Amino acid sequence: MLEFQDPHSCYRSGSPRIKHISFDLFVDFDQNVIRSEANYSFDRPLSDVLELDIRDLHIISIEDSERKRQLPWEISSAFSFGQVLKIRETQRVNSLLISFITSPESAALQWLTPEQTAGKQSPYVYSQCQAILARTIFPCQDSPSVRFTYEAILRVPKGMTGIMAALPDGKKVDDHVEVFYFRMPHPIPSYLFAFAAGKIESRDIGPRSKVFAEPQILDAAAEEFMDVESMIREAEGLFGTYVWDRFNLLVMPPSFPYGGMENPTLTFLTPTLIAGDRSLVSVVAHELAHSWTGNLVTNATWEDFWLNEGWTVYAERRIMEKLLGEEMVGLLAKIGRNDLLTSVRNFGNKTEFTRLKPNLQGMNPDDAFSSVPYEKGFLFLIALEREVGRSKFDPFVRAYISDFSFQSITTEQFLDYVNEKLPGATLKINTDQWIHQPGLPESVPTFPSTYYENVREIHQKWKEGQRDLSSEVRNWKVQQKVLFLEELPKPQSKIDCAILVKLFDIENTQNTEILLPYLCLAASSGYEPVYPRIRVFLSTIGRNKYLKPLYRALNGNESTKYLARDLFEQNKPKYHSVARLAVEKILGMKPVDPKE
Ligand code: BES
Ligand code: ZN
Repeated sequence: MLEFQDPHSCYRSGSPRIKHISFDLFVDFDQNVIRSEANYSFDRPLSDVLELDIRDLHIISIEDSERKRQLPWEISSAFSFGQVLKIRETQRVNSLLISFITSPESAALQWLTPEQTAGKQSPYVYSQCQAILARTIFPCQDSPSVRFTYEAILRVPKGMTGIMAALPDGKKVDDHVEVFYFRMPHPIPSYLFAFAAGKIESRDIGPRSKVFAEPQILDAAAEEFMDVESMIREAEGLFGTYVWDRFNLLVMPPSFPYGGMENPTLTFLTPTLIAGDRSLVSVVAHELAHSWTGNLVTNATWEDFWLNEGWTVYAERRIMEKLLGEEMVGLLAKIGRNDLLTSVRNFGNKTEFTRLKPNLQGMNPDDAFSSVPYEKGFLFLIALEREVGRSKFDPFVRAYISDFSFQSITTEQFLDYVNEKLPGATLKINTDQWIHQPGLPESVPTFPSTYYENVREIHQKWKEGQRDLSSEVRNWKVQQKVLFLEELPKPQSKIDCAILVKLFDIENTQNTEILLPYLCLAASSGYEPVYPRIRVFLSTIGRNKYLKPLYRALNGNESTKYLARDLFEQNKPKYHSVARLAVEKILGMKPVDPKE
């Protein structure tokens, strides 16, 4: 193991690691807290002090579980992303029993009132730990370089369901609680710990897949994701056996801040993917792909995040190529490139966060989050693939995954591996520039696509003044519509905004991918008839990818600046903490604080 320091954890590489945790978790909906007891064992006996990452946790007691002896501990707040729990007199201790309670403000957890759910009857809670929020749920070595197995008892109020990103291991009913048992037999990093509790039911959608959701949306969810098994088969053909046993899906309440989260055995998905036509399933392919790139081969620190996401975008598009063909991948890659150019423009093309391997010392990884690790990482891997050809690259990908399975690696380790397996290739594609320089290299791989050419043709017609284009766009793929809308110059006239409503059936569409670029365009154009729709959108959906551009568009226009603030003030209690922080920064309500 190479020596390196994770800038976001107190864990020091080379010191004893957590090996297994046995959790007993009680979900307390009266106080909005989790009351826990957890038994930790380590890969070797401890030395005299053990440091763990925590944030906003109330520690009740810590004991040496073998000798049943209380241990002294203290909390220091010197560390910038939370606190350090320092446990003393741990010489030769093998396992620890820690009792603790989360704060109602735990940044990983979102507690939803019944009104914020589909069923409106029962509250709901879920966790989102990536990148460094696991420490707000339980004390841990909150670095992706540390992996542990776990088992858990999850206690929830009667009538509710508790689920975890782990294998179910039975359940029982106690007096007023439902008790669910789980085990995660494969070692995972802390950021992949996840659970949810609420009124949740499930349905089989494949031999190793169920979809979980609130009963009101279960039918639609099952229908949307029914093709999941063929996706898993294609992925196995490309990347090797699926080792996590189950690939279940949990469709979240609309405030879930991400499109998807690759929690092992149980991917969390935004309900906005339920478009009714399976047009947005590339997100499922993405989360599935993480089962290899991310969950098997994991980034060692958040500075190496592109190893997770760049590789996963690459793998996602290989799966989509198998399922829908190269032409569709051309569209997806084009949308990705537009997102990348937007990120680089928003950050500035000479800035730290546009490097594939940025320096995140003292920075919150959430502030660095953008399309850069995803799409610049993807383009770098495509450049490498094209340099050596698929006949060499495909076996390389399989060997990479199998050689680093259940390991966490740095960018440097990855590049050493490429140099060993594909000698000469990294030099030819100017790897140093891709990895270490800001902005984009002068020439980046492109993707020919007749679907996209068609979009450009219709754009030309639009520019020339033609407006009766409904027959041209009628049979378009969703992604063609997205590209048409997002590539229109802004602002557009009010008349044209109205024409676009008709052209893309904006009044009736439930497809949020089409809705978003339209709403951004309307906001930038000051097109008032659409404001009510923007209000509804921002008050029901908490997906970061939508909130950020839409608030940015509203904020960038003098006439809608007030609306942005008004809507944010009104809706912020409904957003997950990561979405709230991201929007606050866009609206300039909070300076980017490196110490946060
Ligand atoms: N792992 C990410 C989500 C994430 C990243 C959460 C960093 C917290 C910190 C997930 O796999 C992801 O990339 N989701 C994307 C969708 C994907 C299709 C690009 C998203 O949510 O937009
Ligand atoms: Zn991802």
